Amino acid sequence: MNNHPSKLLPTLIALFTALLSAAAVYVGWHRRKKQNRQHKPEQPDHTNLTNANEVNYTAQDVGQFYDQYTDKFLQVYGKVIQAFRTKEVHKLLDYEAQSMGLMPQNYVLDAGCGVCAPAIYFAQNYHVQIEALTISEVQAVMATAAVAEAGLEDKIKVTTGDFQQLNQIYPAGVFDVVYFLESFGHAPNQAAVLQSVWQVLKPGGVLYIKDLFKKVAPLPQLQPQIDAEITKINQAYHYNVPNLYHILDQARKLGFVVMSLKTIDIPLEDFENLTISNDFQELTGVGKIAGWDGYIFPIDFFELKCYKPLHEPDKGLSRYFLQNLFYLQVQHKKISDL
Ligand SMILES: C[S@@+](CC[C@H](N)C(=O)[O-])C[C@H]1O[C@@H](n2cnc3c(N)ncnc32)[C@H](O)[C@@H]1O
Repeated sequence: MNNHPSKLLPTLIALFTALLSAAAVYVGWHRRKKQNRQHKPEQPDHTNLTNANEVNYTAQDVGQFYDQYTDKFLQVYGKVIQAFRTKEVHKLLDYEAQSMGLMPQNYVLDAGCGVCAPAIYFAQNYHVQIEALTISEVQAVMATAAVAEAGLEDKIKVTTGDFQQLNQIYPAGVFDVVYFLESFGHAPNQAAVLQSVWQVLKPGGVLYIKDLFKKVAPLPQLQPQIDAEITKINQAYHYNVPNLYHILDQARKLGFVVMSLKTIDIPLEDFENLTISNDFQELTGVGKIAGWDGYIFPIDFFELKCYKPLHEPDKGLSRYFLQNLFYLQVQHKKISDL
């Protein structure tokens, strides 16, 4: 073979050129890949469990908000302070009582009781015994007076306190039902609320939450607008609009069984259509929506019902047998204990 340098040179140049163009192709491909990555539209992240909205208020601030505005709420809403409602409010309360499964003689906690209109209705019509809790001193005074006026002092006890610390107010394991009617989302620390509900519920007891939850945008580019509206609601009402996935995750981590999660199912002809919130905004200026052009409705209303499993080894397996695995793991029990 003739390896004369003058013959090798063109081959080397060709090889070098080929290497250069391969490198250029690779660099171009790599750059395009990086750009694509950067321009990828943001997807809603259900696994990010931190609440993106900063909470910069305390439960006591919520109490002061209601001390200041309860008379205005009553002026617009009447005695049931819930935005998602029926025109005739007793239909809403009947729906809620049936959803949470109130039974005569149940010992029930109304967490965030307002001025006790729901508690009074449930005590009168569903024959339950109620502990009613509000963070607002002003509401507690009004609620106590309303309970006395209804002659229900032996059925309803009103307390001022924070539902993030139920275990400091009530004994452990006593309630059949703990319910939150548009109150849960006020809590700065919602994981603490669930934890304290777990502590005061009886095994076999029910947690019921009716509330507004942050909407997931149907198109990713709308999410920032939704987030901005949520921030406005949070600031106006001292709210911390819950992230549904976060709440489910926390509840299940504690051992709650999710019995149902549903859209509140009120017949259309009974539904009040949320205009009451606009009336409140008009009256007070609180949370007033600047304009309807391009406004995106930022929330969904849901009712969430959870069950604290009952494990009584002497009575046999729990109704939710898979929860026995949780019991085995957490309580370090053996199959033979079940
Ligand atoms: C929108 S009102 C709903 C009142 C009532 N559930 C009703 O249907 O009329 C919210 C209620 O939650 C109560 N609340 C908010 N944060 C609370 C907390 N950390 N502890 C106890 N109550 C709280 C307020 O005091 C108020 O009574």
